[in-house]
Amino acid sequence: MPDDLKIAEKLAREAGALLREGYAHGLAQDASAIAFEHKGVVDLVTEYDRRSEKLILDGLRGAFPGHAFNSEEYGPSAHRDDYEWLVDPLDGTINFSHAFPHFVVSLALAWHGQPLVGVVYDPLRDELFAAEAGQGATLNSRPLRVSTQADLGQALLATNFPYDVRTNPRNNFDQFRQFHLRSQSVRQTGSAALDCAYVAAGRLDGYWELRIKPWDVAAGALLAVEAGGRATRPDGDDNFLGSPAIVVSNGLIHAQMLRVFRDGDAAPLP
Ligand code: IPD
Ligand code: CA
Ligand code: CA
Repeated sequence: MPDDLKIAEKLAREAGALLREGYAHGLAQDASAIAFEHKGVVDLVTEYDRRSEKLILDGLRGAFPGHAFNSEEYGPSAHRDDYEWLVDPLDGTINFSHAFPHFVVSLALAWHGQPLVGVVYDPLRDELFAAEAGQGATLNSRPLRVSTQADLGQALLATNFPYDVRTNPRNNFDQFRQFHLRSQSVRQTGSAALDCAYVAAGRLDGYWELRIKPWDVAAGALLAVEAGGRATRPDGDDNFLGSPAIVVSNGLIHAQMLRVFRDGDAAPLP
């Protein structure tokens, strides 16, 4: 295993342990014992986002001093490099702040915008999803494979809504209705990274989101692709990291999902 993947796994596990402690602490008091600030009307940051981020960035700076990084709370590193770490120290902050047990640490290393390594760690289930470009994806070291569902009408999908849903007309409600009517069901889990990892694991058949950041999906999309799936923009362009919108699937229902984006209410119903 190359050093970058080994170190990403180690840091994701350590940061996840911190989140697990924070979660238990919040539960022992009550969830409102977790200190948080509002970044926007809906968007939050907790003390654990920051503590997890510090642990990860300190570790990455020590191991890869030349690499750049872009991390959700800290922002981009001062220097640029061909290699860039995309760091979400806590994906699912709203879930975490409500003691809803569904959140992860997500770390990816990209080269010129192409994910090379991705790790998503769910500390409450102790599930470590890992992938390296061209080498497949694993869950706790066992190989992962996407689902074999080829019919969108029988597919289980996931999506989430942007933080500015109250004011932004690109709020995903139209797409939510369109996909809900054309699939078995649609989940809204609050963790984009875990949605992508679940596509890789065959627990979901597809996922889309309209306004996402690279650190939310870089690791998860690599996992899904390495497990045999596909990740593109809604128009089918492969450069999903350069876009706020993404579609991730098992590959078999991808064209059907892109058609819903293209034709909207006119797309065929099951
Ligand atoms: C958010 C979650 C959510 C998605 C948002 C993300 P955060 O990340 O992944 O599911 O809808 O776009 O920002 O704020 O919990 O790290
Ligand atoms: Ca996130
Ligand atoms: Ca986050």
